[in-house]
Amino acid sequence: MCGIVGYIGYKDVKEILLNGLEKLEYRGYDSAGIAVRNEKGVHVFREKGRIADLRQTVDVNVQAVTGIGHTRWATHGVPSKDNAHPHQSTAGRFTLVHNGVIENYEQLKKEYLLDVPMKSDTDTEVIVQLVEIFANEGLDTEAAFRKTLQMLKGSYALALLDAEQEETIFVAKNKSPLLVGLGEGFNVVASDAMAMIQITDQFVELMDKEMVIVTKEKVTIKNLDGQEIQRAPYTAELDASDIEKGTYPHYMLKEIDEQPLVMRKIIQAYQNDQGKLTIDQGIIQALNEADRLYIVACGTSYHAGLVGKQFLEKVAKIPTEVHVASEFGYNMPLLSEKPLFIFISQSGETADSRAVLVKVKEMGCKALTITNVQGSTLSREADYTLLLHAGPEIAVASTKAYTAQIAVLSILAHATAESRGIKLEFDLIHELGIVANAMEVLCDTKAEFEQIARDYLASTRNCFFIGRALDYYVSLEGALKLKEISYIQAEGFAGGELKHGTIALIEEGTPVVALATQQDVNLSIRGNVKEVVARGANPCIISMKGLESEEDRFVIPAVHELLTPLAAVVPMQLIAYYAALHRSCDVDKPRNLAKSVTVE
Ligand code: F6R
Repeated sequence: MCGIVGYIGYKDVKEILLNGLEKLEYRGYDSAGIAVRNEKGVHVFREKGRIADLRQTVDVNVQAVTGIGHTRWATHGVPSKDNAHPHQSTAGRFTLVHNGVIENYEQLKKEYLLDVPMKSDTDTEVIVQLVEIFANEGLDTEAAFRKTLQMLKGSYALALLDAEQEETIFVAKNKSPLLVGLGEGFNVVASDAMAMIQITDQFVELMDKEMVIVTKEKVTIKNLDGQEIQRAPYTAELDASDIEKGTYPHYMLKEIDEQPLVMRKIIQAYQNDQGKLTIDQGIIQALNEADRLYIVACGTSYHAGLVGKQFLEKVAKIPTEVHVASEFGYNMPLLSEKPLFIFISQSGETADSRAVLVKVKEMGCKALTITNVQGSTLSREADYTLLLHAGPEIAVASTKAYTAQIAVLSILAHATAESRGIKLEFDLIHELGIVANAMEVLCDTKAEFEQIARDYLASTRNCFFIGRALDYYVSLEGALKLKEISYIQAEGFAGGELKHGTIALIEEGTPVVALATQQDVNLSIRGNVKEVVARGANPCIISMKGLESEEDRFVIPAVHELLTPLAAVVPMQLIAYYAALHRSCDVDKPRNLAKSVTVE
């Protein structure tokens, strides 16, 4: 969701910015722009649509070594060229890109900008106009920027150019991610290390309410009182090849295929020298001291949390609740005496989850973040972090992060159970190995899922996913995958719940994907299939070896009953992928969606 890049150095900046923005495309956006500064002033190029459209508008004859760029995911104002960033102040002296939401922009406009004609509907323009007003009152750029920052309420990552100040990018951050990257004779700014990993792997983290003055030689971090802050850089452990598609047509397909490898990486990462699965003792102690766990997450990560609850309750025997982050603020449950919060977030930047984290930390609660991104906001602000080791997930639709989240939660439950002297009934390393093999078989059977997508989803308006027990949670995820990338109206239901209303929607030919991987409820879910077939549905039963029946469309290799979501979700992902492909949808960048959802 919105992305920022900036470069200041010695090379022509246009291509560096455009390449960087392309690396941020996965976050989701609907317009893009760059501004470059040279001795003639600042030149702005913006376009609605894709970076490829922006490329067409950039004047190749403009040479510059300083610039900023932005991908915008519309919040204030429709996606349009006028609302695209960078935005400029009235006199054109200042040029700004912004991620986040300024909550008090209307109020600031009324107070300071009544006489200033606005050129866009964005909250961002208010910031750049304020900087100009304060600069016109006699403040230097740094002071005018700082004064503006002190007035802003909300979230921001900002990069600012001053046409009158040679080769400097002014940067600031509050609640939205932003990094500064260090190079030899150049420095960069990026929302995500991925955008600039081709030219540097040395990054400096920025904390909330910090501003940075970036020149090609120097990076100076200050707090909003103007005091300088020293911070050492870290090496981003990101391989440039991790973020390339290679021979794959889409990142999503690559990431689905990477899942067996991710399972094996996770086993390795959490295995000690004696070959046992192990989790940091501080984390285990926190779980053991808690009388109840509260999992908080959004979307796919929430679905992984539902599966995680089963492990934590059934294996580790700790009562666990799962909550949608965006609702938690208003529907906060009555908390137990010793709660422990577990935030599950692929990106570690999701604003809804972060808002809950901030709130529960204020209440004095402890928190663990399970994330794919080391150093992400949720990781930094929680007491403990567990990493997913899934590698960068670039397709907007989450696949390998979901299975990694479930695998890490299973290890967490397993290690906690062991520490409590609970006798474990299965060897998790062995079972996760079986899962990895099953995933491989499923990934090698793509043609089958492509055919299912063709047979059931080519022209349908809607599709239902049903399951019971753990299969219910996978149904929710299957429906989410399908709707987000193919735009087919899809809903996941507990098999038994259909008859309480939703069955009214079943018509002649309505596709119903039924999961049957749970022994205890195998007959019941098949009963639900009969109910919908009697009303004209076109059923697609996906079962598991050992539970199969003649009517099944596909049989998944057997895995441990508690780990079935890890295998059962792969057909869901592939069916969604091929349905989207057959409908000519933009698989990796579905409409209206963002990868990193940094607004509440
Ligand atoms: C769906 C998807 C989203 C995310 C959700 C939370 O495929 O990716 O539903 O799961 O936006 O994001 P994270 O996990 O980054 O907190």
